[in-house]
Amino acid sequence: MSINKQILLAKRPEGMPDKDTFKFAETEIEKPRKGEILIRTIYVSVDPYMRGRMIDAPSYVPPYKLNDVLGGGSIGEVIESESSQFEQGDIVIGSYGWQSYYTAKEDEVRKIDKNIAPISTHLGLLGMTGLTAYFGLLDIGKPKEGETVVISGAAGAVGSVVGQIAKIKGARVVGIAGTDEKKQYLKEKLHFDEAINYKTTSNLQEDIAKACPNGVDVYFDNVGGVISDTVHANLNKYARICICGAISSYNLESGDIGPRIQTTLIKKSVLMQGFTLGDFADRFAEGSEALAKWLQEDKLKYEETIKEGFDNIPEAFLDLFEGNNIGKLLVKV
Ligand SMILES: NC(=O)c1ccc[n+]([C@@H]2O[C@H](COP(=O)([O-])OP(=O)(O)OC[C@H]3O[C@@H](n4cnc5c(N)ncnc54)[C@H](OP(=O)(O)O)[C@@H]3O)[C@@H](O)[C@H]2O)c1
Repeated sequence: MSINKQILLAKRPEGMPDKDTFKFAETEIEKPRKGEILIRTIYVSVDPYMRGRMIDAPSYVPPYKLNDVLGGGSIGEVIESESSQFEQGDIVIGSYGWQSYYTAKEDEVRKIDKNIAPISTHLGLLGMTGLTAYFGLLDIGKPKEGETVVISGAAGAVGSVVGQIAKIKGARVVGIAGTDEKKQYLKEKLHFDEAINYKTTSNLQEDIAKACPNGVDVYFDNVGGVISDTVHANLNKYARICICGAISSYNLESGDIGPRIQTTLIKKSVLMQGFTLGDFADRFAEGSEALAKWLQEDKLKYEETIKEGFDNIPEAFLDLFEGNNIGKLLVKV
């Protein structure tokens, strides 16, 4: 039988992670005992939040331990089962992370339906990032018909779904992303009303004002930093800001400094709320059903950037910070 390949956290990064952050290891595959299954990994998810877990600081998920496998969403096939709940050939999803095989206890993973959509979508549109878009936008942003929704990180896994849900709800949707290819994708494939390339604009403030002639009612923030400071200058009275992520700050070596936002929030009676997907754990079934229904009705489209090969997982992770993905970034092992 094959060896289990793993990727461990070798060193806590300061600034941008590099090859020294990761260590490749090989272990014997553990034979499943009663109540366990052996999984062969098919897809591994790489996600920006993993950067936060590389720091030894308290957060909403515990930090990775040095020399432990980097945990995160993975999908695999059951190749041996000692559990009455699973059989060979079942496709399962779990948080067992960057390793090519995993011997799981039956309550550590759950079966996924192979018939709704390609299995990879359970790590993206129908999984963590799609649900984040669904609950963040609808519960915090609460877009109304005719309102303007601005999304940063708009062509990524979360952002691309947020924009499409906002369109379903009848909003005017403006996406901010880092390449012209992404801009084109947002406008032509996802039918966003406007898209802005923040890397090539000579005046982001002016471009946002032009793209949002009636101001901004909902800002779904995936990136933080200067982009968000600029969107804040265009907020309408009673606007809502959904703080989903702040990827522009994840690799900074010292704290991020920006304009103080309190007076903006006061003057415009703006609601700003951070959230993590876990806040909505008791409603995942609702979110999954809605996303699957919209997908079936062709109201939601999705894109995946799939890198091939287990050894390329660290590189794929770093691609997130270079903007080398459209839609969900995954590695096919
Ligand atoms: N709150 C939650 O529960 C939750 C759950 C999932 C994700 N998130 C957060 O949501 C955000 C998006 O996650 P995702 O999984 O959908 O990732 P993603 O958007 O698919 O990938 C990351 C994207 O961020 C952009 N980016 C990278 N560095 C940047 C920078 N310095 N400034 C501006 N943009 C930058 C890049 O696109 P460009 O080419 O456009 O720069 C890149 O493609 C992340 O901040 C993540 O941490 C939060």
